[in-house]
Amino acid sequence: MKKTILTGIKPTGRVHLGNYIGVIKPALELAKIDEYQTAYFIADYHGLINIHDAKELRELSYGIAATWLALGLDPNKSLLYRQSDIPEILELNWILSCFVSKGMMNRAHAYKAKVEKNLQSGIEVDSGVNIGLYNYPILMSADILMFKTDTVPVGKDQVQHVEITRDIAENFNRTYRDTFKLPEFLIQEQGSILPGLDGRKMSKSYGNTIPLFEEPNKLQKLINRIVTDSKPPEEPKNPNTSTLFTIYKEFVSQEEALRMSENFLNGISWGEVKQELFIVLNKALGGPREKYYEMIANPKVIDEILFDGAKKARAIAIPFLKEVKKQIGL
Ligand code: TRP
Repeated sequence: MKKTILTGIKPTGRVHLGNYIGVIKPALELAKIDEYQTAYFIADYHGLINIHDAKELRELSYGIAATWLALGLDPNKSLLYRQSDIPEILELNWILSCFVSKGMMNRAHAYKAKVEKNLQSGIEVDSGVNIGLYNYPILMSADILMFKTDTVPVGKDQVQHVEITRDIAENFNRTYRDTFKLPEFLIQEQGSILPGLDGRKMSKSYGNTIPLFEEPNKLQKLINRIVTDSKPPEEPKNPNTSTLFTIYKEFVSQEEALRMSENFLNGISWGEVKQELFIVLNKALGGPREKYYEMIANPKVIDEILFDGAKKARAIAIPFLKEVKKQIGL
């Protein structure tokens, strides 16, 4: 039996370099390994928690599909689908919700962070929290458990959700017989948390991102905005504390990274580093970027690929859900 590797991306913003380095790039590597069945999906029902504009949600969803395809994901080898095309996931979502304590959801970090913020601002604790946000980890558990997932490649912030998934599965398995497989998470090492324009973690919520497929002139402008210190060109600089270098090294060979770190130590101007970073990024992403815009202009082609993926995914989900329903007496 092949091991199943599954991950989802929420369509809540343009895919940025942080998403790429943290999840997409390693997931693409895993997709090339024959021993794995990979399943990558667009978590559009998760997106609905935040995005209440139909056009925006639709376009962001196409954007994620096109990103995977432009970067070379082979939909004949990997499952690529929209969460909302698999209604069985929502049925499982309800079933699982009956095996989750409310206390566990109170402790889930996205909800907890919102509550803490509300408390600090002196407003009602649950202000601005919809039940979708509160139930977020249950739907994510359904995504994962439905496909007997072995490994979930995620960003660090999602580890708790995979642990919750394990708890829910264990709870169910204890009540009935072993039904769900307990998934493991897979995170990128510490070093590869990508800093954004301001040096904090690159994240949509900080507004400090570099979109993966930004046009060249805008890409150049964003790179120019990356914060540096005010050291003059000849002064030695530490590559390891530099956002520019952290991004740079993700896109070049080890030798090139070494050469650049020597340049830092010997003294190089920030302007030059920025120029080099632009050249490297533009070269690495130019091809996929072209493909991406081609796909985006042809959403029908994307739809066909996604429907096909959903068909294959449902061929797994439908019989498994039936089995689960039988277990619980439905
Ligand atoms: N919560 C994930 C995120 O925000 C997206 C997601 C939804 C997901 N369902 C999933 C990730 C299942 C992995 C597995 O990044």
